[in-house]
Amino acid sequence: MIRSRPVLAVFPGLMIAGAGLFAALPASSHTTGAPPLVEERQAAMEDMKDAMKVLGPMVKGEAPFDAAQAAEAAAVIHGVSTRIPDFYPTDSTYYEPGHALPAVWEESDAFRDEAAEALEAAAALREAVDGAGAAAAIAPAVKEVAETCRACHDDFKKDED
Ligand code: HEC
Repeated sequence: MIRSRPVLAVFPGLMIAGAGLFAALPASSHTTGAPPLVEERQAAMEDMKDAMKVLGPMVKGEAPFDAAQAAEAAAVIHGVSTRIPDFYPTDSTYYEPGHALPAVWEESDAFRDEAAEALEAAAALREAVDGAGAAAAIAPAVKEVAETCRACHDDFKKDED
């Protein structure tokens, strides 16, 4: 106690930051047994699928165009896209494929290229959605994003999902 007091006094912010970091560790990994990063990235991918389910019907004319919903969906896709490279660390001490093919790691440069293209398409979608007044204004950008999803899955995702 005597020795830890000065530390607390000098670095209270550090102690709080440390506690926050610990609290932020995902607790959900216990539910399926999958490692936390795999679960997190699979959930993030599912979020993008949900976002595409909002955008797809709008551009197909099956749902009314809703600018706020479109913006939210585009933000989700863009947000996840910025994280894809970090979801698949190349660090050799970490290898957990989940539904990913070994090619993600074996052809890491190609994977990262696909991820970069997807991020570019996601950013363009966000721009297209910003201020758009009709589905036609975002249709090409949505199609572009859908193609980057498919392209990466063809090469880097196991088929069964
Ligand atoms: C750069 C590559 C890449 C891009 C781009 C990409 N994905 Fe994926 N996606 C993957 C990989 C790899 C998996 C396998 C998940 C894992 O790691 O277990 C996956 C899995 C998924 C899954 C299944 C989740 C699961 O449990 O495996 C869905 C749904 C999905 N992606 C949707 C999308 C959508 C929608 C887009 C486009 C908006 C997209 N993805 C873009 C690589 C990509």
